[in-house]
Amino acid sequence: MKYTTLGGTSLKISRIGFGCWAMGGHGYGPVEFSDSEKAVHKALELGVNFFDTADVYGFGKSEELLAKALGSKRKDVVIATKFGVAWDETGKTYKDCSPKHMVSALEASLKRLKLECIPLYQIHWYDGKTSLQEIMSALRKCQKQGKILHIGCSNFSSEMIGEANAYEKVQALQSDHNILNPLATDFLKKLEENQISLIAYNLLARGLLTGKYRQAFQFSEGDTRSQDPNFTGEQFQRNLKVIEALEKVEKKVSFTKGQIAIGLALHNPQIACGIIGFKTEKQVEENLHSLSWTPDLEAVKLVEQAVKERYELKS
Ligand SMILES: NC(=O)c1ccc[n+]([C@@H]2O[C@H](COP(=O)([O-])OP(=O)(O)OC[C@H]3O[C@@H](n4cnc5c(N)ncnc54)[C@H](OP(=O)(O)O)[C@@H]3O)[C@@H](O)[C@H]2O)c1
Repeated sequence: MKYTTLGGTSLKISRIGFGCWAMGGHGYGPVEFSDSEKAVHKALELGVNFFDTADVYGFGKSEELLAKALGSKRKDVVIATKFGVAWDETGKTYKDCSPKHMVSALEASLKRLKLECIPLYQIHWYDGKTSLQEIMSALRKCQKQGKILHIGCSNFSSEMIGEANAYEKVQALQSDHNILNPLATDFLKKLEENQISLIAYNLLARGLLTGKYRQAFQFSEGDTRSQDPNFTGEQFQRNLKVIEALEKVEKKVSFTKGQIAIGLALHNPQIACGIIGFKTEKQVEENLHSLSWTPDLEAVKLVEQAVKERYELKS
């Protein structure tokens, strides 16, 4: 395993983290706890020490099951969770970053994760109404109380992250990043200058880049990927061109399409860590092996060209 430093802290986190959305059993099709537990154990064995969850994943279930799967190890690893997406009794979600909501969400997360302090507490999605100054000052208060070790943000623009970091030190930003939708160099440079680690999610475009979703497939009921434009209609057809490019690279190197997609997305050292959704032990083993591949220029160009053509087709 390769490790990196989290922001300006002394914490070392694995370059690949374990994404726990699917583990919550909501929005990603059916998941058996026994499979998630085995996957967590395999990830620990292979050196993964960074686990990302959120209170809303499975409406608390993901945090609860992550704590169960990790057992006493939960205090030895870096757990990142999030607040800001609340839900009602019918399961309807809405954004709420108010200090009042944050304080109660934090208490609930601490309880479910069976921790006294959360290593990285992240604003999941900004609610567009609470002032950032107010949120950051409330987070700082919880930090002083010892309930949060470090503060992180997620899905923030360059301006928002700059503003939040001016109020209180932000150690990490979580953003969507993969070969289909790479982050801009200027944005990454700004984060680096401010010692904010970029934690990338969606490296496999929700499984699409493994190439296993082709013509005739149907997601199970409740799997949100059935509404994802990347998996439907014209956009899906265009994405297949990128899969074909991954296939060409696959024929030349002894790595799978998914490993190549992860390897290319993490190739840039400005991407501190990539969190990947693992459902099984096998997926853990396969995905972690991507760190053994050093992308060559030919592979980079081939895939970049296919992505460029996909965008050109779009306009
Ligand atoms: N901050 C945010 O707003 C945000 C948003 C999204 C995600 N995240 C975080 O990022 C994590 C990862 O994102 P993600 O889960 O949406 O996407 P992802 O990592 O791109 O895709 C994960 C899915 O791909 C499939 N997969 C993984 N490895 C595979 C392999 N080797 N072979 C075949 N299929 C494989 C699995 O689903 P199937 O087997 O069912 O295909 C898995 O659930 C989440 O768990 C969450 O922690 C954060």
